[in-house]
Amino acid sequence: MQSYLTTPIYYVNGPPHLGHAFTTVVADILKRQNARLGVATLLSTGCDEHGQKNAQAASAMGLDPQRYLDLRSAEFRALFDRLNVGYDVFARTSSAVHVPQVQHIVGRLHERGLLHRKTYEGHYCAGCEQFKKTSDLDQAGHCREHPNLVAGLIREENYFLAIEPFRQAIRAHIAARPDFIRPLTFRMELLRLLAEPLEDLCISRPAARVPLGVRFPFDPDYVVYVWFDALINYLTNLGWPAPGYRAWWAGAEHIIGKDILKTHGVYWPAMLLALGEPLPKRLLVHSHWVGEGGLKMSKSLGNVVDPNAVIDELGADALRYVFARHMRADADSAISVALIRQCYVAELANKLGNLHARLLSFTHAAFAGRVPPKGALSPVDEAVRSCVLAAAQRFAASLSPEDIPASTRAVLDAVEQLNRYVTSEAPWSLAKSRLTRSRGETVTHVALDGLRLVFEALWPIMPATAQRALAPLPRRAGPSEVWQPQLDLLEDGASLGEASILFPRMGRTL
Ligand code: MSP
Repeated sequence: MQSYLTTPIYYVNGPPHLGHAFTTVVADILKRQNARLGVATLLSTGCDEHGQKNAQAASAMGLDPQRYLDLRSAEFRALFDRLNVGYDVFARTSSAVHVPQVQHIVGRLHERGLLHRKTYEGHYCAGCEQFKKTSDLDQAGHCREHPNLVAGLIREENYFLAIEPFRQAIRAHIAARPDFIRPLTFRMELLRLLAEPLEDLCISRPAARVPLGVRFPFDPDYVVYVWFDALINYLTNLGWPAPGYRAWWAGAEHIIGKDILKTHGVYWPAMLLALGEPLPKRLLVHSHWVGEGGLKMSKSLGNVVDPNAVIDELGADALRYVFARHMRADADSAISVALIRQCYVAELANKLGNLHARLLSFTHAAFAGRVPPKGALSPVDEAVRSCVLAAAQRFAASLSPEDIPASTRAVLDAVEQLNRYVTSEAPWSLAKSRLTRSRGETVTHVALDGLRLVFEALWPIMPATAQRALAPLPRRAGPSEVWQPQLDLLEDGASLGEASILFPRMGRTL
């Protein structure tokens, strides 16, 4: 089975922010986990470069739109590179591959008589790039997501795709597949949305009002609506309609924030059905990071967390770890620079880093840097070994975003248990006397092997750190090419390498 993991393609009307980093890191964690299980995976991310708000951002900076798009999308790519994201495709909707693809699809739907033209009047929120119902606006005409923008009244003629004819089919598809959307809360939300008749989707914008977009192939006065254009990237990335796309498409999983559930759970399926294409395999939805006190992050509140600044100070893996450990799937989670620093010190440096440093330096001091042999195991040894193994086993199969926090936490709990084990068994004292030395060897062996398994398990979350942590540990290959969590893979008598400091003391201030 092939897996095609997608992130949303992000608007480039500002620099990349923490939320963009988050979804993309989640996708990378899933891809790495798949990779070591032997599941071929294609990961796409990228930038959504059309529409009014990108155009406004370009003109606010006095730049030619294409130059602006090039600069901004390079910032997104640079952030994802810094975060060690192994994307296979970096989609850009202004690219020469994507534009004709969108035109082709619009033309196809037109030929099939699925598009119609009509005059529409409605409040348009440039932030959402969507027409809003009056009930979605507050008294001053602001939409909930964008209280700083007025959703002005617009009356214009446009092209539409009727969604209602596809509603029952989409609903039935979801109802028949309990696993189509995760977690459950979002499945319920989508089924509720699909319980009511749906309005036609306006799929064009007059080029005179929104020049930054893909021209309609049969009517140059119009550009394609930015969402219609953007969703198509999921097919463009696979070379649709060339036949090779099918196997990947069958394994398509869209990782999205809850803010774009309707576009992915209603409009996109309707577009696919209109095209005669199968629906994706799954929607993996996550909630949002918010500032402390549950407030939306915003520049004016001063609670925005800049992912690049966090990486500068603490490294990419620290941010990846915080994402993995502290996100919640079906409720928003608070994040702040203080919380990230606290997590770095309390969990990464004091628990994970400390276990690694003390075990390696002790083995160097007491056993000339060689992995000591393991003798008969006591119940305490067995207990700590099975705790580590059980935690690592949570990484034995493909992950879904909702599994990540609990699985990460289980590994951290195992690290705590290993730390307690080492402290109470005190192998450094045991090693001093001839009578107890072999027991000291066993404890050290068990702890080192646990340490190995902990970092193997955490590799998808903190790839660079795990690699550095594992480098000095002489390991035997497991029995299978596919990674399996397994105890007892240390080479007895082999020399340990020098340990590097995994989580240095915090240096620069954010
Ligand atoms: N361009 C559209 C998506 C088109 S996909 C065919 C878009 N772009 S966006 O820049 O607004 O990105 C939205 C996505 O960024 C969310 O769905 C989520 O994946 C991520 N996040 C943005 N803010 C977030 C948080 N505060 N927390 C977590 N993720 C968030 O919508």
